[in-house]
Amino acid sequence: MQVTPSNSLLIIYHSMTRGTHQMVQACAAAAQNEPNVNVIVKHASQTEASDVLNANGLIFATPEYLGSMSGIMKDCFDRTYYACLEKIVGRPYALMVCAGSDGQGAVRQIERIVTGWRLKPVAPPVIVNVSAQTPERILSDKRLSESQLSPCIELGNLFAAGLAMGLF
Ligand SMILES: Cc1cc2nc3c(=O)[nH]c(=O)nc-3n(C[C@H](O)[C@H](O)[C@H](O)COP(=O)(O)O)c2cc1C
Repeated sequence: MQVTPSNSLLIIYHSMTRGTHQMVQACAAAAQNEPNVNVIVKHASQTEASDVLNANGLIFATPEYLGSMSGIMKDCFDRTYYACLEKIVGRPYALMVCAGSDGQGAVRQIERIVTGWRLKPVAPPVIVNVSAQTPERILSDKRLSESQLSPCIELGNLFAAGLAMGLF
């Protein structure tokens, strides 16, 4: 069956030490199992307002750095916010955060921004805690376990199924 534009899921992400990247890979692979959804994964630095405007569903995936979303994810919102304002009202979204110990700061910031866009949450935020609190652990590449990736897989399944069935 042909994929229609009404079933596109855009996952926007940034990652420095690969934790968020693995979350995105797991989520995207799960969503791609739904044949009627076109899953697009884009690095935040490569994402333009037109990408956001063309997406029927959005997943934002960011590390938490210094109590907030990463600077590169913030830059993406800075570049796209006003071009998308009032043009994507009611579209479904979800949020994934990779954090060393917390994650709530990044969640709060993004939830506030997408409230301005008036997006509709389809699931609670997924926060994966990688227990990195020393400089060595923080700066080393992350390797997420199956149990850490499982909520990302669930989110991909749920989001894609909901889009395919026209639930959102
Ligand atoms: C500059 C910097 C600041 C960080 N600040 C926080 C923080 O405020 N809260 C937290 O839970 N983790 C913090 N961390 C840990 C990261 O969230 C963690 O290393 C995570 O794996 C980052 O995601 P990534 O692997 O996709 O880059 C920080 C890491 C860096 C490099």
